[in-house]
Amino acid sequence: MTTPKSTNITWHHGHIDDESRTRLLGQRGCVLWFTGLSGSGKSTVARAVEAELVERRHFCAVLDGDNIRHGLNSDLGFSPEDRTENIRRIGEVAKLFADFNNIVLTAFISPYRADRDRARQTVGEERFYEIYCAADLDVCEQRDPKGLYKKARAGEIPEFTGISAPYEAPESPELVLKTGEQTLEESVQTVMDFLASKNVWPEEI
Ligand code: ADX
Repeated sequence: MTTPKSTNITWHHGHIDDESRTRLLGQRGCVLWFTGLSGSGKSTVARAVEAELVERRHFCAVLDGDNIRHGLNSDLGFSPEDRTENIRRIGEVAKLFADFNNIVLTAFISPYRADRDRARQTVGEERFYEIYCAADLDVCEQRDPKGLYKKARAGEIPEFTGISAPYEAPESPELVLKTGEQTLEESVQTVMDFLASKNVWPEEI
């Protein structure tokens, strides 16, 4: 945890402990941290998993890079420092949602390993699952859903991940989705099976 600037602040605890909350709500909180290049399918898979979860009456929250940059993180750009701050804030927000037993799905490029590792520490190792959307650059560039690779190649977008800014692939993610090869349905099924294997919905409830 970062050291707060404020002094004279006291942590306030709620009335209900984590175990009771999980039992009563029928779900424990966790974070599915999607990472990968722009166009690798992070948001697409996260949104499809969200729909599947809500269908089954599970509560979840999607935090998406493009969306969050319109609001909470509208003051941040794409320099290494701003990306680090972007991911730091999202790590904190994801933790808050997970504390309230949400299944949080984050869809950020999150190109730096150290930033993702910090988010893991913030959220807590036991409920942080890094999911690598492993589509190759040429596949993402061919898809180019927002026309950004074309612009980046033309020199119109500086510091574009994969072209003129780095992407550090995860070394030991909990899950790898071959989003360049497999169908969306296959990716969603893989994530749903993964969640079930992690006892997110404890059986005794
Ligand atoms: S991150 O690197 O800080 O994690 P984030 O996921 O929030 O990035 O935002 C990435 C999205 O912003 C991309 O999907 C793309 O639509 C857009 N974007 C605009 N400029 C850039 C850039 N220079 N590099 C990467 N993505 C960019």
